[in-house]
Amino acid sequence: MASADYLPPLRHDGQATDDYKLITVAPVTGSLGAVISDVDLSCGLEGNLLAEVRRALLNHLVLVFPGQELSAEQLIALGATFGSLHVNPFVAGLPDHPEIMQIRSEENETARFAGRWHSDITWETRPSMGSLLHARTIPPYGGDTLFANMYMACEALTPTMRRVLNGLQAQHTAFQGHGRAAAFADAPEVVTHPLVRTHPETGRKALFVNEYFTCGIQGMTSDESQPILDFLFRHMVRTEFTCRIRWSENALVFWDNRCTQHYAANDYPGDKRLMWRVTINGDKPY
Ligand code: SIN
Repeated sequence: MASADYLPPLRHDGQATDDYKLITVAPVTGSLGAVISDVDLSCGLEGNLLAEVRRALLNHLVLVFPGQELSAEQLIALGATFGSLHVNPFVAGLPDHPEIMQIRSEENETARFAGRWHSDITWETRPSMGSLLHARTIPPYGGDTLFANMYMACEALTPTMRRVLNGLQAQHTAFQGHGRAAAFADAPEVVTHPLVRTHPETGRKALFVNEYFTCGIQGMTSDESQPILDFLFRHMVRTEFTCRIRWSENALVFWDNRCTQHYAANDYPGDKRLMWRVTINGDKPY
């Protein structure tokens, strides 16, 4: 049976608890993403408000908070609400705040931080739980970020294919994504993670390989593993598993790296774009 014949009904919401009292949650697509209004993130998150935002993240995987004016300290404090923060050895952070990675494209640059689907820092033994990306300077048009739902990608496979993938360990390396820069940094050369991981909070299964950092499957030659990975890299970003976020100045997007991938579109030639990202450390995948 072809996987296209097997696509189950779309569902973005594994928890079915979309009754929020403190925030307004407007889904972006039937697969993932929601715009959250009525929240001022500069005040921080705690108590019931924090609980609702956490629940919205588990239900919608990608949350967009428009119009958030945040200082570096406020962004760090917000990220630290959800866990310890990662300092990326390959991408320069702010001089006084190394936890804030700058994703900067100048007007005259063509090689940009863009163009490959991934989940953040899967080359770490404990990859990221989630990331917060804050729009500081955005181009007049273009520079959107696309997201894909890895639960849906997993659930759309046939039971037979899922059984094959379930026992496999995928290999990840920073060297593939970050190239020579990685050779000078203190990063593990290759780490392995289950190719299908279990989300530690929802218990749902998600595909966990990406074309940026995944370099093989343990116990297989590359002739054997590459066709499987190539199939998955195509399958997991099918349009019906995705949403596309158009940025506005000071928007903040919070995504769950355990069950999504993202892709920055490099389609704003001649314009500047500056984003600040904090990356929250996560658990060892199982
Ligand atoms: C990232 O990969 O974290 C950057 C996404 C973006 O700049 O849109």
